[in-house]
Amino acid sequence: MEKTANVATLPLFLLLVLAAAASAGGVTSGYVRPTARAAISVLHDGDGRTPQQVHISAVGSDKMRISWITTDDAPATVEYGTVSGEYPFSSTGTTTTYTYLLYHSGKIHDAIIGPLQPNTTYFYRCSNHTTGDELSLRTPPSTLPFRFVVVGDLGQTGWTKSTLTHIGAVDHDMLLLPGDLSYADFYQPRWDSFGRLVEPLASKRPWMVTQGNHEVEKIPLFHSTPFTAYNARWRMPYDGEAATASGSNLYYSFDVAGGAVHVIMLGSYADYSPGSPQHTWLESDLARIDRATTAFVIALVHAPWYSTNAAHRGEGDAMRRAMEPLLRGGHVDAVFAGHVHAYERFARVYGGREDACGAVHVTVGDGGNREGLATRYDEPQPAMSVFREASFGHGRLEVVNATHALWTWHRNDDDVAVAADEVWITSLAANPACSNKDSVSLE
Ligand SMILES: *[C@@H]1O[C@H](CO)[C@@H](O)[C@H](O)[C@H]1NC(C)=O
Ligand SMILES: *[C@@H]1O[C@H](CO)[C@@H](O)[C@H](O)[C@H]1NC(C)=O
Ligand SMILES: *[C@@H]1O[C@H](CO)[C@@H](O)[C@H](O)[C@H]1NC(C)=O
Ligand SMILES: [Fe+2]
Repeated sequence: MEKTANVATLPLFLLLVLAAAASAGGVTSGYVRPTARAAISVLHDGDGRTPQQVHISAVGSDKMRISWITTDDAPATVEYGTVSGEYPFSSTGTTTTYTYLLYHSGKIHDAIIGPLQPNTTYFYRCSNHTTGDELSLRTPPSTLPFRFVVVGDLGQTGWTKSTLTHIGAVDHDMLLLPGDLSYADFYQPRWDSFGRLVEPLASKRPWMVTQGNHEVEKIPLFHSTPFTAYNARWRMPYDGEAATASGSNLYYSFDVAGGAVHVIMLGSYADYSPGSPQHTWLESDLARIDRATTAFVIALVHAPWYSTNAAHRGEGDAMRRAMEPLLRGGHVDAVFAGHVHAYERFARVYGGREDACGAVHVTVGDGGNREGLATRYDEPQPAMSVFREASFGHGRLEVVNATHALWTWHRNDDDVAVAADEVWITSLAANPACSNKDSVSLE
């Protein structure tokens, strides 16, 4: 974008503040960083291409939010249809911009299209653009089976590209991202380059994200509002259907596959303490679920509640104490986290121990960011930690029917995705021993 700030133009004292804020935000830690790949050079303006940075997210059961950025005053209009080159439908949404230090964003547009048919390819174009930039998306199916990709801590390095290539090679219905997207780390043009990097995938399938610590971007005295870029660029359906509205872009929930799967996106960097808006919302969200029709309930957080890795030790503990009893009461089947740059899968756990009625906890913070891998683990490996490995990769969750979901983790091995861990997760709704709704109190 034309008016982007260059770091070199920032006064020195401001850079010092940035550096201090970066280390206070937990950006540095004691990782061994063996094979981090260089950040790929994407800090150009996208060759002036407009519209750019297109990504989509599901809104309710039959609508889709289209988000994109232009450098000019183009309309926030999406034209679409089921035949390439023909756009019988159109929808106009809203446009926003934001300012961050000396940076001025492009025009960030967002329009909701629909109602759409399930499991159907739509062709669309943004801002009435006519130079052949037709995009296509496929809506999620309204029945099982349903295939998720789950990957955290993406960043924009050579490893990120490798991970995205592997994800693009496998058919999936939706991508879930448990936080840490661009690693812009206060330098806003990196949000733009991240948007361009993920567009080939994120314009085709809904990307449902929640925030990580790298999304906060708060600088004392200079930019006191947190999540400015994240909220402007990655707006999620937090205010959609009245019954599930959370009122905050930092946590929300939605159903897929005709209600067979309920997904809860939690905010590790929003207040989660009892009595907080997030805690109260989670309680009512879980209370609304009818497990007679909802086969699986999964949740995403950024900082893992269970980890045997030395990195970020204990950072998820307070949130776990505040919210784990609620999740157990709602028979949540699995919890996916990022933050720790490695892969780890636990047995069903609750209250720090194995528990047949607890959730399977998985850390999949290994998308490929520039901070490298977190390779130091507790020894010996406790029994409840079933599989752990510090490699870049991504996960896939295929909910095949009302009782069975297959989780696989795929390591980026020499640029080939190798299935390295695999487990069948059976629905807690189908386990009569776990049907008692009373939650167990923690120690
Ligand atoms: C964009 O296209 C829509 C639908 O064809 C039309 O209604 C609108 O006037 C167009 N806007 C501009 C600025 O061309
Ligand atoms: C989605 O459509 C494809 C192609 O028509 C079909 O093979 C698949 O079974 C459908 N999936 C669901 C869940 O309906
Ligand atoms: C659900 O899928 C699992 C795994 O493929 C299979 O063993 C089971 O029989 C299926 N259940 C039903 C009701 O089809
Ligand atoms: Fe993180």
